[in-house]
Amino acid sequence: MSSIDTKLVQHIRTPFFYYNMDLLSETIQKVKTESEKYGFVVHYALKANSNPKILKLISDNGFGADCVSGNEVLKAIENGYDPDKIVYAGVGKSDWEINIALDHNIYCFNCESVPELNVINDLASAKNKVAQVALRINPNINVQTHHYITTGIEENKFGINMWELYELIELIVKLKNIKLIGLHFHIGSQIRDLMSFKNLCLRINEIQKWFINQNIDIEEINVGGGLGINYEKPWAEPIPDFSNYFALFDSLLELLPGQKVHFELGRSMVGQCGSLITKVLYVKKGVNIDFAIVDGGMTELIRPALYQAYHNIENLTSKLPKKKYDVVGPICESADYFGKSVDLPETNRGDFIEIQSCGAYGEVMASTYNSRNLVKAYYSNEIK
Ligand code: LLP
Repeated sequence: MSSIDTKLVQHIRTPFFYYNMDLLSETIQKVKTESEKYGFVVHYALKANSNPKILKLISDNGFGADCVSGNEVLKAIENGYDPDKIVYAGVGKSDWEINIALDHNIYCFNCESVPELNVINDLASAKNKVAQVALRINPNINVQTHHYITTGIEENKFGINMWELYELIELIVKLKNIKLIGLHFHIGSQIRDLMSFKNLCLRINEIQKWFINQNIDIEEINVGGGLGINYEKPWAEPIPDFSNYFALFDSLLELLPGQKVHFELGRSMVGQCGSLITKVLYVKKGVNIDFAIVDGGMTELIRPALYQAYHNIENLTSKLPKKKYDVVGPICESADYFGKSVDLPETNRGDFIEIQSCGAYGEVMASTYNSRNLVKAYYSNEIK
């Protein structure tokens, strides 16, 4: 079930991230073949994992980048992404960040508000440039995922609401250093039910009609990211169903001639290739259930603490009969746990524990809380 040979990693200091580079390559190839069938353009969302080796493997395969900060724009360029394939989103772009993006002539700013459009126009004007923008429109679609990671409903801070559009299109024609090229959407993350994407397509078709009626040309549609992965049974679905995902957009979006469709995939490209490897420090008696206290914590993987996220956990060492444990970290916070009531073979001090599906929003969200060190990453193709 696990791709890790514990003999090969037994001398490595725990905790650490482990990346299965073969699985990453296979996943990338699948995204490529399935998206190219329809001429779709895929931008990898750096926020999911910006580890340089991962960034490089993805850029080597010709993908674009989806960035949400000035530093991500710089990181993408340093790691081989063509500026002409970089899109830049975010509700709070600082002036220095916008300037970085302008200096590198990125492809497109995904704009999230009217004031932001004015600022980009002023900064572009100061540089005698014309910035290409897509309007991030809030499609007001609710999806079944954790409320912290839904983004496409009206009361959310993200995107421009439909009722703001009349004012906005009047403004945009006056802004001479901005060129409107597209519409951008993103409805949330870890979306497993393709119906949500179906609803998004139908909504995009309606919104697109509104723009046509206003005589505004839209060259590009960016549908964002959000395709989920199987956290419950990662072994059963190591590669998400990209085939049906892309086919759905192809069959439902009503595109104008020559219109390009862009995607911003993060989690689905990298989520299953990474694990957090940690060791059991102590097994402690609890009232109803014993605690397996491990040396990794919410400083390495905050998802369970922040979103009550489920990650499959395996004991890579023990072959003993199963018992139930709360698997917890060493940080001084009650929220510092990886799993509650987890079925594991009888667990003892020194056992290797694998927290699976950590390739996305794991290493990138790590912190040094409790003055801990950031941990290292190891790669399957380098450990022999
Ligand atoms: N595009 C935009 C505008 C986004 O906000 C996001 C993610 C993506 C693309 C990529 O979405 P993905 O394909 O990875 O679902 N830390 C949370 C997830 C936050 C997602 C933020 N936005 C987690 O650990 O679940």
